[in-house]
This record gives sequence, C-alpha cells and structure tokens, in this order.
Amino acid sequence: MPEPRTGEDAAVAVTAGVSVARATMRPMTAEGAHGTGATGPGTDELVGRAGELAALLRDLDAARGGNARAVLLAGDAGIGKSRLATALGRAAAGAGVQVVVGRCLDAGGSALPYLPFSEVLAALAHAGTPLRPVLHGLLPGAEEAPRPTAGDGDSGRLQVFDAVAGAVRDAAAGAPLLVVLEDLHWADRSTRELLAFLLARLGSQRLLVLGTYRSDDLHRRHPLRASLAELVRLPSVRRVELGPLSPDAALALVRARAATGGVDEATLRRIAARSEGNAFYAEELVAAGSDGLPGGLADVLLTRLDRLGGPARAVLRIASLAERSISHDLLREASELSGADLDAGLREAVSHHLLVPDPAPGTESYAFRHALLREAVHDDLLPGERVRLHARLTELLARRDGDPGVAPRSPGTHWPRTTCRGRSRRRSGRPRRPTAGTDRPRCSSTRSGRWSCGPPSRTRSGSPEPPRAP
Ligand SMILES: Nc1ncnc2c1ncn2[C@@H]1O[C@H](COP(=O)(O)OP(=O)(O)OP(=O)(O)O)[C@@H](O)[C@H]1O
Ligand SMILES: [Mg+2]
Repeated sequence: MPEPRTGEDAAVAVTAGVSVARATMRPMTAEGAHGTGATGPGTDELVGRAGELAALLRDLDAARGGNARAVLLAGDAGIGKSRLATALGRAAAGAGVQVVVGRCLDAGGSALPYLPFSEVLAALAHAGTPLRPVLHGLLPGAEEAPRPTAGDGDSGRLQVFDAVAGAVRDAAAGAPLLVVLEDLHWADRSTRELLAFLLARLGSQRLLVLGTYRSDDLHRRHPLRASLAELVRLPSVRRVELGPLSPDAALALVRARAATGGVDEATLRRIAARSEGNAFYAEELVAAGSDGLPGGLADVLLTRLDRLGGPARAVLRIASLAERSISHDLLREASELSGADLDAGLREAVSHHLLVPDPAPGTESYAFRHALLREAVHDDLLPGERVRLHARLTELLARRDGDPGVAPRSPGTHWPRTTCRGRSRRRSGRPRRPTAGTDRPRCSSTRSGRWSCGPPSRTRSGSPEPPRAP
C-alpha cells in the first residue's frame, strides 16, 4: 500500500492517479453525463456561477479550518451541477485539498449498494488511507468478500458505516478532503443511509462533502426526498438550488461553444433564449446549429415521460398544443378524461416537474416547465393524432368567447409570430374546418380574445415544415 501523502501531493495523487476521480471530475470538453456536449474554444471556462462558486469556496475554507461541512447541490438535469463541482474540485486541488469523487448510476431498480462510496474508498486507499477489512468487499472489482447490503442486518451495516466514517476521518487528518458524491437521485438505500450517517457526524474533520442531485427527478414519492428533509436540518449541512444561467451567461456559453461554427448572432441569441439558462440544452442547440430541436435532445427530454401513466401523458400531449399555458377546463374538455383521471394525470405531471401550475391567484392553468420539453412532446405526436388534437382544440377555442383558456405568449419566448388563422375565424363568426391531412399550427388565443398561432412545426432535423396553403 503506498505511503499516505499530504498537501498538494495528495491532491494531485487522488485527482490524477485514480481513474474514478479522473472520469468524473472531468474538464468540460470531456463527455458529459449526457454524452453529447459540444466542444470548442473556451469550453473549459466556467461561465457565470461566480456567486455559487464563491460560496462553495467559503465552505471549503471552513472545512480546511477544521469545520466540517456538507453542501447538497440541487438543480435540473443539465443545469451545470457537475460543472460547478468540477470547478470547485480544481480550485480545491490547487489549494492542496484531496479531492475524491464517487458517482451513483442509473441502474433501474438494481442499484449497487454503496456504489459512490466504493469509488471514494478506492480513491482514498489509492492515496494511502488504510481501510478496515470490513470495507475490502466494497472496493470496485472485489470478489473475495461479499458486498455488505442493507439486508446484512443493523450491526453489519453499522460496522460498514463506522469504517467508512473512519477512513474519511483518517484521510482528512492527513490533508483537507473534498468528497464529491454525484447524482444522489440515483443513490440506493445503503448509500442514502451511509450519507446520513456521515453527515450526522460532521465535526472538526477537515472535510467538505458535496452531493449533487437532480431536483427535477425528485417527484413526490422519490426515496431521496425523505432523506433530504432530515439532512438539511443538520447544522453543518446546507442545500443549494442551482438555478438557470442568467441570460448573459447563457449567451456567453452559447458564444463559446459556437466559436468555430459560423452561426450568426441572431441565431446565437435565439439559442440562448430557448435554452432558458440550461447549459446542456444550450450546448445541444448550438451543436445542431439551427432553430430546430435536435433529435438527441428531444430524446433526452422525452425520457422524462417514460415513468408516467396514461393520463399524465395524455394531459401533456394536449398541453403541448398550447403556446404557453392551458386552463384546467380546456384540458378537461380536450382530453375527455374523467375528472379523477385528469386530476391524477395533472398531479403526476406536476409532481414530476413537467408541468407547473400558474401561480396567479384565480387562474387554474398549467404550463410546461420548459418550452423545449413542450416542443419535444408536440413533435412526438403521431401525425394523425396531431391533426385530431389540433382540430379538437381549435373547435373548443372557437366556442369560447372572452374565456380563451389558453394564456398569451409570454415575453421572451422564442417562437416568431406567424399568420393568425384564428383571427379570421373569429371575424367570420364561425370556426374554419380543420384542414385534413395537414399539420396545423399551435393554437392560442390572447386574453383580449385575439388569436395567434404558434410556430410551424419543425422536424427533428431542424428544418421548418413547408408553409401550408391557407
Ligand atoms: N457554468 C458553466 N460554464 C460552462 N459550461 C457549463 C456550465 N454549466 C454547465 N456547463 C456545461 O453544460 C453541460 C451540462 O452541465 P453538467 O453536466 O454540469 O450538468 P448537470 O447539472 O451535472 O447535469 P446532470 O443532472 O445530467 O448530471 C456540460 O457539458 C457542462 O460542461
Ligand atoms: Mg451532473
């Protein structure tokens, strides 16, 4: 076993010498969790996030001074949690802090117990921290000893928990230690319990634990929710919700990624606006280089519907036809779901952070949490289904006078206004019959009763569909 190392040597040894750490604390140009991020000049730079990074560095300073801390970094998928963690890891390593990373994996229902901790332990062992024998079975590739599992009984688990806490404490005694635990939304029960055990014992160790998780994955019954509710009550634990990049930062990111792509300024600005500050969306849109929704991004977005039941999917499909938000009444009429099914579907869509209720008092309407998700759902409708749903919504809208049921386009949305068919329908006093066999534009009416239409549907390749005959 190598000699324990301290200070900068140890940091370099752990971050550079252990494949786990290298794979996860990666530079921005490496393959991301989503796997398809664009590369180019300036991609290594952290855009925005100065305030968030400064706050994390203060946590790190406290930890280096013997005031152990934990930060739970939450945020939507692709918002930039890992990128921020990487920036902190680099700064930490530069200051002589040991940096170790463990990552949870999406293994469906069969998550490996203690997976991120086994990566952390491997990194610590590699850097010279002795591990108690009870932990040897946890190391990656270990065969000689069975992995302890939640079913091994309380005393077995306690031994493991205690040994992990001991290893972390011993490592931090040699040099300050940053432990990054990525993607805790995929953590198995053993990992969640071990994390709670460790955080409850934060004291004078020179230790900062940074856990990341996707807040948009945390639906109402997600098992991490209950753990988090307990963890954030601990005095040394703080939770940070990483919001979208500011519009300026999003544009800077888009510019950096598109530096060699020859994309014009107007398109760059549209892409930045469409990303709504989500770094991953911005990168994917830049890589596509046009106003379309790239197929890879659409697929990522649509996987969020995989866990939903039929009513929730039905609600989302109809909501995807409205420009911004759609009223409960209109959804009910258009979906033809029973009241109970509609409520269940809406609750599920809201709980999975796909739809958000309009916060304005007295309004009972819902909007997609992200416009690109709505676009993906809309583009995913079958051609016949799209025609049928548009026709149904058009008919329902035409019947409403002064109660449009669909909110106006909010400022800053990216779609250009197109010809307004609905208005002519209103003037003539009767709805125009749907044009059979064509894809109709998204329907909407403003609160003033004027109609407007959404963008022409785009194909996944990004090219607008050809104009339709009036
Ligand atoms: N502030 C930033 N500056 C530059 N690039 C960024 C920034 N934030 C994120 N990115 C880039 O955007 C992409 C997505 O970011 P990242 O992987 O950190 O998101 P995430 O929140 O960890 O997503 P997930 O929940 O899927 O793990 C990556 O390619 C990342 O390098
Ligand atoms: Mg990540």
